[in-house]
Amino acid sequence: MRVGVVGLKRGLYLAAWCGRLGMDVVAACDRDAGRHAEARELLPGAVITDDWRELLEQRLDGVVLANDFDEHAPLAIAFLERGVHILSEAAACRDEAEGRRLIEAVERSSASYSFAENYVLHPHVRLIRQAADGGELGRITLVEADYLHGMSPEQVTALTGDPAHWRGRIAATAYCTHTLSPALALTGAWPVEVSAFSVDEAEPRAAVALVVRLSSGALAITRHGFLQGEPGSHWSWVSARGTKALAESARGPAQRSWSVRFQAEGWTQADGALREEERTPPPLRVGGKTVERGAEGDVLLLEGFRATVERGEPPLVPVRPAVAATLVGVAGATSLDEGSRPVRVPDVRG
Ligand SMILES: NC(=O)c1ccc[n+]([C@@H]2O[C@H](COP(=O)([O-])OP(=O)(O)OC[C@H]3O[C@@H](n4cnc5c(N)ncnc54)[C@H](O)[C@@H]3O)[C@@H](O)[C@H]2O)c1
Repeated sequence: MRVGVVGLKRGLYLAAWCGRLGMDVVAACDRDAGRHAEARELLPGAVITDDWRELLEQRLDGVVLANDFDEHAPLAIAFLERGVHILSEAAACRDEAEGRRLIEAVERSSASYSFAENYVLHPHVRLIRQAADGGELGRITLVEADYLHGMSPEQVTALTGDPAHWRGRIAATAYCTHTLSPALALTGAWPVEVSAFSVDEAEPRAAVALVVRLSSGALAITRHGFLQGEPGSHWSWVSARGTKALAESARGPAQRSWSVRFQAEGWTQADGALREEERTPPPLRVGGKTVERGAEGDVLLLEGFRATVERGEPPLVPVRPAVAATLVGVAGATSLDEGSRPVRVPDVRG
């Protein structure tokens, strides 16, 4: 499978994994020539360029879009028009109109769109999904999900302080897909309405909480941004309460936070006894080696992309849920600007 990559920071990491998983990374692009040397070293034989349009001419089967957060859709549409399969990082689109153009482009194209949402594939989220899909939790009524970074004020400023960089220019609510996508995957529901709050009015951009009504009637409460006490499990903590049981990431030091605590009350059990246990996900192995926990989501994401491109399997996260999760952040920005009032999330179910 011939793969191209745009954006050589996160993109170079994914390109290296593509190579390890047996894909052929034949072209890579970054508009910053300072990033080319490392790419040349890691991707010998690949065409390296500073203009992504050159990748349109490279007879690619698939392209990984890891360029700026708020600029993925125009590239995705251009590659889809050439019949090139897409694996796109978040966000899927800037606003509703662009999201609808992206959906139309996917529907017109012979190629597919996969959202690069590794957060639905991390070990703890897979364990909770398994329990939800197997009916163990009952109907899910409340999902809580965090994507939080515990950094010093200096580190946060270094990362987000430049208004010209995407991390400095996007709305405080925008980076919501790593919490919303797990909530949608666990419930099989769609976002309907969102109210957004700054966690700290003295530092309104640092972290936000979103309260999202889902189409199943359940509520999702998500937090993302910069708060102390980040979880060791790739900054992700997820909890799902169902009508029969609770499953949530263990709060604990690094390795333990990939595990999941299950609790079913006595009244739900035939013997009337409370069931409580902690489950640790089995290791993932590739080429005889155990994959580091934090990379499991990326490996499964890339293997899923390959299955879609080579065998026509459905994308792990297709375009409509990708756009829906993204638009929660867009509607959330309006809510935040307007006193945290509830704002409808556009319905993109089709
Ligand atoms: N899923 C994850 O775990 C994860 C982790 C990190 C980043 N990301 C996502 O990946 C994307 C990139 O993040 P990053 O941390 O690598 O950002 P970054 O700003 O550090 O790097 C982006 C790179 O893309 C290049 N670029 C941007 N637009 C381009 C264009 N039009 N043509 C060519 N090159 C272009 C930039 O020069 C830069 O080198 C973002 O959408 C981010 O949300 C996802």
